[in-house]
Amino acid sequence: MIFSGLSPLLRLPLVSGLTRDALLRMDPEIAHGATISALRLGLAPEQTEPDPPELATALCGLELKNPVGMAAGFDKNAEVPQPLARMGFGMVEIGTITPRPQEGNPRPRLFRIPEAEGVVNRMGFNNEGHDAAFARLKNLHVGAVLGVNVGANKDSEDFVADYVTGVTRFADVADYITVNISSPNTPGLRNLQADEALQRLLAAVLEARGRARTRVPVLLKLAPDLEERQLDDIARIVLGTGLDGLIMSNTTISRDPVLGLPNATETGGLSGKPLFALATRRLAQLRQRVGDLPIVGVGGIHSPETAIAKLEAGADAIQLYSALVFGGLDLLDRIKRGLVATLRNRGLSSVSGLSGTRTEDWAAGRLG
Ligand SMILES: Cc1cc2nc3c(=O)[nH]c(=O)nc-3n(C[C@H](O)[C@H](O)[C@H](O)COP(=O)(O)O)c2cc1C
Repeated sequence: MIFSGLSPLLRLPLVSGLTRDALLRMDPEIAHGATISALRLGLAPEQTEPDPPELATALCGLELKNPVGMAAGFDKNAEVPQPLARMGFGMVEIGTITPRPQEGNPRPRLFRIPEAEGVVNRMGFNNEGHDAAFARLKNLHVGAVLGVNVGANKDSEDFVADYVTGVTRFADVADYITVNISSPNTPGLRNLQADEALQRLLAAVLEARGRARTRVPVLLKLAPDLEERQLDDIARIVLGTGLDGLIMSNTTISRDPVLGLPNATETGGLSGKPLFALATRRLAQLRQRVGDLPIVGVGGIHSPETAIAKLEAGADAIQLYSALVFGGLDLLDRIKRGLVATLRNRGLSSVSGLSGTRTEDWAAGRLG
């Protein structure tokens, strides 16, 4: 059975041979390919009942059936947004896609740290390029909010121009666009988070959005490795533009929580459980600086409790990826059930009632 352990909410598909344990024994990238193939073949579990109404929420004017999204990097080429929506994600972010196809870094480039439930990747934006993703997405009704995450080709002479091309190309097919300047695996990319470069990028990208037929919300995805002083600068710049929201965070280049464990010294970005405390603290610190600008909280969510904590730290909606490798896809269902139970316990009528209720504690490092 693929994606074992699903609740009665989900129809159990009769697929033998691809248990979570079997996937965990495979080379990580082969296991990922097998999962995408299974989803493409329609072998994914499907949610059979609609989400309870209290899970509905809004993000940048978009209506989400629930606040839990699939983070970028799982479906880099927009092969399976519909199956992911049918599984019950409220939002699906495809990409990162770059204008031209590119191979990414040599393999191996994806590593598990099972002892810590962490992942290190240095994929390097391997993807089939704008044309392939656009062909799959045009005229597609996904059934969840669709984010298109755009990036720059490694050998591009003008990173900003690549983002502008991405926004222009996908404005009509995406519900929102993510400008991803926080991958550690494209040399120089993260420099776009700094002052003048960020100003120039946002001006160009938002001008391109203004020229498009549809006013698509644009979000900026940030790294957790930013100091508070850098967050000050980013908040000041962002608030002076028409940017619609932020995503905190991408993977970290730090290794503190996994020091000494096998694969911890691999070059790349660390994600999963060991990223949770850092990404959540940075999210809260960002929330303190940007008022009520929408923020998507990502990084290390691995349980209903950590999903709730991410919202409490200041997220309006959340995304996850790495924990699905260890926890299986039933984690989505467990998180949604946990959210509903918490809302009912606390007498709240919607998830927005949780957002930002513990920002100060998270920002000060008292939690996590
Ligand atoms: C294998 C892998 C590939 C990723 N690729 C991308 C990507 O192409 N673009 C992006 O914005 N984030 C990418 N990410 C980062 C995730 O979207 C997410 O921000 C990060 O992993 C933290 O969330 P998590 O701890 O729930 O995985 C990738 C993560 C992993 C593990």
